[in-house]
Amino acid sequence: MKKILVTGGLGFIGSHTVVELQNEGFEVVIIDDLSNSSLDVLDGISSITGITPKFEKIDIKEKGKVQTFFSDHKDIIGVIHFAASKAVGESVLKPLHYYENNLNTLVYILQEVVGLPSSNFIFSSSCTVYGQAEHMPITESAPVQAAESPYGNTKQIGEEIINDVCKVDSNLQAISLRYFNPIGAHPSAKIGELPLGVPQNLVPYITQTAAGLRDCLSVFGNDYATSDGTCVRDYIHVVDLAKAHVVALKRLLEGDNRSNFETFNIGTGIGSSVLEVIKSFENVSGQSLNYKFAPRREGDVTEAYADTKKANDILGWQSQLTLDDAMLSAWNWEKNIRNIK
Ligand code: UD1
Repeated sequence: MKKILVTGGLGFIGSHTVVELQNEGFEVVIIDDLSNSSLDVLDGISSITGITPKFEKIDIKEKGKVQTFFSDHKDIIGVIHFAASKAVGESVLKPLHYYENNLNTLVYILQEVVGLPSSNFIFSSSCTVYGQAEHMPITESAPVQAAESPYGNTKQIGEEIINDVCKVDSNLQAISLRYFNPIGAHPSAKIGELPLGVPQNLVPYITQTAAGLRDCLSVFGNDYATSDGTCVRDYIHVVDLAKAHVVALKRLLEGDNRSNFETFNIGTGIGSSVLEVIKSFENVSGQSLNYKFAPRREGDVTEAYADTKKANDILGWQSQLTLDDAMLSAWNWEKNIRNIK
């Protein structure tokens, strides 16, 4: 069997990637500390694919446990590393927690991965590394800008750590995927995003408002230099994003990569404004959303959408699903977990 480790495999993007890996015949082992996920996700995965992935509850900050895990699983042929904290605002308040949780853990995992007979590694990065890029769409050669938050910094430093290791260890083959804005849920509505507390991201805030958990969505800023004054992002369906991981992993397994550290933007290439996202939601759900304009949110860039040519041409991956598909799946997931008919 082709055994793949997915760290953070019970999280939002991790769980969708586990499904796509299983669909492609990989055997998946998940490690997750359940700090921002639930064991119920295992049931969701197995009800979609018919296969319950192996799971070990491990906090990767415990280096000894990571070492033991790898010595018990020497037949792992690839690692997809999602486990990390991801709340921008929280990272500003708890920088040391973020550096420990996102960087110490990366080091501990890499220390084991380089010792495997097959050292293939996929890293979960973010378009946040570009900050407000000068030119749209954003290519991979756009400069990485000073990070706006400790969270963003952990993604930049994470890429640098992997790159430094790749320079001296030709055994390590790594790909960093720079995600734009992942949204949506599995079309089965059996897995999806489960934000803790009040959602910080737009789409879960929209679906929770429509479900009655929140009164009103605040649209942060309507005086940006965009077509309708609201910020523009590249919203990528989580299933398309999950598939990009499988394609990237296969590239490494088949030895098709051109260097031992590659980066790819993973987005749709289409910029959508906040108002367009709301319109899409209203269109697919058939209900109107309660929203109001509010002041700009600190740290938000005006626009960010991907140039996906490198991923299309070199990785051979392309997004298939639309914004409407993503909004419908997010709404079906929200209705499912809130028991709304
Ligand atoms: C955020 C993070 C980014 C991270 C990504 C992961 C910030 C500054 N950036 O991206 O680093 O990689 O999540 O998913 O937090 N919006 C509203 N009202 C809301 C929530 C959001 O109007 O209640 C707007 C925002 O101003 C923004 C857009 O919706 O224009 C998208 O926001 P969000 O979903 O939080 O994603 P990003 O900020 O792009």
